[in-house]
Amino acid sequence: MNNPNIQKAQEHLAKLIQVQLARIEKMKAAQNWINYDTLKPVIIGFCWGDGIGPLISQETQRLLEELLKEEIAQGKLLFRTIEGLTIENRVKHMQAIPNDVLAELKKCHVILKAPTTTPEKGGPYPNIESANVAMRRELDLFANIRPVKIPREGIDWTFFRENTEGEYILGSQGLMVTEDMAMDFKVITKQGAERIIRMAFDFAAKTGLNHVTVVTKANVIKTTDGLFLETAERIGKEYPQVKWEGWYIDIMTAKLVDPKRRTQFKVVVLPNLYGDIITDEAAEFQGGVGTAGSANIGMQYAMFEAIHGSAPRMITEGRGQYADPSSLIRAAAMMLQHIGFQAKAQQLEKALVICQQFEKKLVITGRNDGATGREFCDYLMTTIKSPRLNEIYEGYVKG
Ligand code: IPM
Ligand code: MG
Repeated sequence: MNNPNIQKAQEHLAKLIQVQLARIEKMKAAQNWINYDTLKPVIIGFCWGDGIGPLISQETQRLLEELLKEEIAQGKLLFRTIEGLTIENRVKHMQAIPNDVLAELKKCHVILKAPTTTPEKGGPYPNIESANVAMRRELDLFANIRPVKIPREGIDWTFFRENTEGEYILGSQGLMVTEDMAMDFKVITKQGAERIIRMAFDFAAKTGLNHVTVVTKANVIKTTDGLFLETAERIGKEYPQVKWEGWYIDIMTAKLVDPKRRTQFKVVVLPNLYGDIITDEAAEFQGGVGTAGSANIGMQYAMFEAIHGSAPRMITEGRGQYADPSSLIRAAAMMLQHIGFQAKAQQLEKALVICQQFEKKLVITGRNDGATGREFCDYLMTTIKSPRLNEIYEGYVKG
């Protein structure tokens, strides 16, 4: 029987498979990692985003320019503002990242990105793809690294979220087979799984943590998650010093809430959507998604971003100046670490822990009963400049 709906679905699927097979070939073709040590200056493209984005970006930029005064003056670092990654401009071009903006991004070595609005079905904007998801794919930023650290509680987690595949890669290319039946697609490739899993094992080995938790739902999602788990088994053999265990996403989510069990997790590697969900949960223990940063790493480019959204409601309610810039600042600290400015990165990271988790002389609540983003950045800068920065930090960690 020749059912036109099935035929349409087959054609749709064939096209999707073709594109994915071509992507695999690209992954197979060897590429070199960018080497920041040879670049002078390292060009940082800064996207200010939408909603609270420009406000937290302005404060972050002010802080970074002061922290990195010497490096900028010596021509080691260059900040470049990338215009046009706004919801208005994206809607105007009907593109997740307009072509000219993407071309500008590609001229930078690393990108610091404030939140951009992701339109949702039925919302006020046309349903264009998320700029984050598009950027991760266009620049092949396959590793989404999200650390959550609460030193006093013994929590030191680093999540390696696969960043280009899973439910995301065809998230805007699902199919209404008939008006009654919707289908989305999940893709995991051997090469895609391998590169993120290897990165997690490398990190576990290099840091001496020597432990990796691999999270899937391979008992149910047998083919794609099954491949992810099999790949972990294979890569794990190359790292005999690193112990690893497989966990299912449901019980992992539960155990993160268990104060006794959760400190035993260290390095966690997982497919895209599970990583999306669990890193929000993890960040909540540290003080909320507003406090966590996220590194999107590829072989040629890297992008560092706040993990929260653009919070348009804060703007319409006139609370923009109370938005918390710490997630973007933490992302900036991860960026500095990644491009070789370790000392400055650590100062920033320590100051964030002291101000947010320890001293709390100023607390951001998002409303006028708390500090403004500007006040908080001034507080951070004063903390960084304190000759007792390390001492205060150590004192706090020891409790
Ligand atoms: C994140 C965000 C994004 C994602 C959204 C904004 C598309 O939640 O970075 O975790 O789902 O990856
Ligand atoms: Mg998320």
